[in-house]
Amino acid sequence: MIKGIILAGGKGTRLLPLTKITNKHLLPIFNRVMIEYPLQTLLKAGIKEILIVSGREHAGDFVEYLGSGKDYGANFTYKVQDEAGGIAQALLLAEDFADGKKVMVILGDNIFEDNISRAVKNFRSGARIFLKKVSDPERFGVAVLEGKRVVKILEKPEKSPSPYAVTGLYQYDKNVFKTIKRLKPSARGELEITDVNNAYIKREAMKAEFIRGFWSDAGTFDSLARSVSWALKKSKK
Ligand code: DAU
Repeated sequence: MIKGIILAGGKGTRLLPLTKITNKHLLPIFNRVMIEYPLQTLLKAGIKEILIVSGREHAGDFVEYLGSGKDYGANFTYKVQDEAGGIAQALLLAEDFADGKKVMVILGDNIFEDNISRAVKNFRSGARIFLKKVSDPERFGVAVLEGKRVVKILEKPEKSPSPYAVTGLYQYDKNVFKTIKRLKPSARGELEITDVNNAYIKREAMKAEFIRGFWSDAGTFDSLARSVSWALKKSKK
């Protein structure tokens, strides 16, 4: 049984002043709250045991909004990340929750149209990332490919060597926590998920797949607007 983790910590500074009095992941994407999108991505793939990691300031709002999981036919657990020390630091808080099981991790501001059920079913060991061709790869982690093999991931390179963004969806086996504990903070003072992924690549334990359909993060004004207009269009279909 694979467990789900939604990472919804961080400061959301790129969306100020919208994030001055509420959390980024509680902002609306058309007719739904942002965190409902990554949550539905996990639920639709049959993942029912889900941990939500949030920042300290608005942790209570997440519990109030989402509840125990009963309304979703699922079981939610909550953890607080005291300071925004990076995505990998937030993930490390999930060690006890994972309890030696494999995990599917999704960033709380990532919106996927694709259904990930197959990926959930066929994951065995190591790690897996999900790529998407984009026009602005410099905003993301970028995959360097040799044929179909990912040989390295560069975090927000100045000039991207490929158009393939690493989306905010990751699968890991139980070794992920050991890997995070060996990391050093990056130049921006964070434990980077890209360093976790590069460690798996070095061990030749990383697989990559392409994601289909719409994908966006919603962490900047432009990408938030794109996500809203996609959700609006989809509701009319
Ligand atoms: O959206 C995909 C991208 O997400 C990847 O391509 C990048 O490799 C990855 O580093 C990340 O980049 P961002 O700069 O967009 O990450 P951001 O700081 O915006 O954080 C994204 C989500 O991760 C955020 O919505 C909540 C969670 N997070 C982030 C930080 C820094 C945490 O839970 N805790 C944190 O400390």
